[in-house]
Amino acid sequence: MSETLPSEAQPAPPTAAEPGRDDRNISGVPIRLDGVTKRYPGQDVPAVDDVTLEIAAGETVMFVGPSGCGKTTLLKMINRLIEPTGGRIHLGDEDVTDQDPDRLRRRIGYVIQAGGLFPHMTVATNIGLVPKMLKWDDARVAARVDELLDLVGLDPDQYRDRYPRELSGGQQQRVGVARALAADPPVLLMDEPFGAVDPITRQRLQDELIRIQEELGKTIVFVTHDFDEAVKLGDRIVVFDVGARVVQYDTPERILADPAEEYVADFVGAGATLKQLTLTRVGDVDLLQPTTATVGSDAAAAVAAAQAAGDDYVVVLDRRGRPISWPTLAELTRSPTIPDTVDERLPVVGMRSTLNDALDTMLAASQGGVVVTGRRESLAGVMAVETVMAAIQRTRSGAAG
Ligand SMILES: Nc1ncnc2c1ncn2[C@@H]1O[C@H](COP(=O)(O)OP(=O)(O)O)[C@@H](O)[C@H]1O
Ligand SMILES: [Mg+2]
Repeated sequence: MSETLPSEAQPAPPTAAEPGRDDRNISGVPIRLDGVTKRYPGQDVPAVDDVTLEIAAGETVMFVGPSGCGKTTLLKMINRLIEPTGGRIHLGDEDVTDQDPDRLRRRIGYVIQAGGLFPHMTVATNIGLVPKMLKWDDARVAARVDELLDLVGLDPDQYRDRYPRELSGGQQQRVGVARALAADPPVLLMDEPFGAVDPITRQRLQDELIRIQEELGKTIVFVTHDFDEAVKLGDRIVVFDVGARVVQYDTPERILADPAEEYVADFVGAGATLKQLTLTRVGDVDLLQPTTATVGSDAAAAVAAAQAAGDDYVVVLDRRGRPISWPTLAELTRSPTIPDTVDERLPVVGMRSTLNDALDTMLAASQGGVVVTGRRESLAGVMAVETVMAAIQRTRSGAAG
């Protein structure tokens, strides 16, 4: 017997026009919260007070709001790590409010900060936990573990037998995502999963999640305190106030353009124009095509090609087409061949990064541009800070007009 819920053949009827989203693969199911309430023992006011909310199949919905407003409590009621004191919860067509929590949790992946991995178990054992509980045979579990490591961008041969302490924070988080996806649950709950990693790693993890979600189409509920993260990852955002009161539930575009209350406007913050940069992906803008040169090739030829193209730098590619440095022409004239030195500070973003991420990366590296990579980290182009400036100009004149 399959433990997964029947997936919806069709996404729930959209509440508004959603351009270009109907061709997506969807394996998630809708979640319906109906008057859900949690009153902790001894509390005068409920932590979550009568929340009614529908989350469409295959959407990523972001929960934002001040600390203590009830986001985690609400999230944990969906997989019943916390028992509601009132209301009903539906997954798909099924009322799961009274369902056995262990059974329920096999159909709901859960990712928390720092991965929540068991330290005494290898990566493979951590990821295979739920499949093992579902009594998959060893070969099937092993194959699934490798498939998931691949999916989250970790080489199975290198990582399956490691222990969590032998991984970086970002890698632990990837394993946490892999573990949550192990039994292919239709629903994924994520509670500030990327809160504990550095900003560049966080960008990468976000980009990976976007890619995975494009592939899988789960229903994802994601708690964050970072509004930029909500705008970047969310199909919709729920802005909560105390007691998990829903102040606004809308697309990032509409929340930025038209915050429902002063409270939301404050939350969005003063840099609303800059936040528009979070709505645009690097893959959506025209990239510059720089002069390139492969490691070991003739440096003088590369300099000549760059001069002919009017470039004052060259992007150096390794033998697999991946950018490793971008020396100026003056630097290149120092050696007869293109050096294989890897510039550890080379600012690189992916196609799914936002213009905001790109700007952050430029600022962190004190550079006026970023190198953009596509499939298998191969060069896709270069984006200059001017492109970001032009995008700001456009949203400004758009807002004025
Ligand atoms: N186990 C608990 N017992 C009593 N009160 C709790 C418990 N967990 C959370 N709370 C309270 O419930 C409210 C909501 O908490 P929480 O859901 O963690 O908020 P958030 O995730 O938005 O920061 C807070 O006032 C918090 O202090
Ligand atoms: Mg919380």
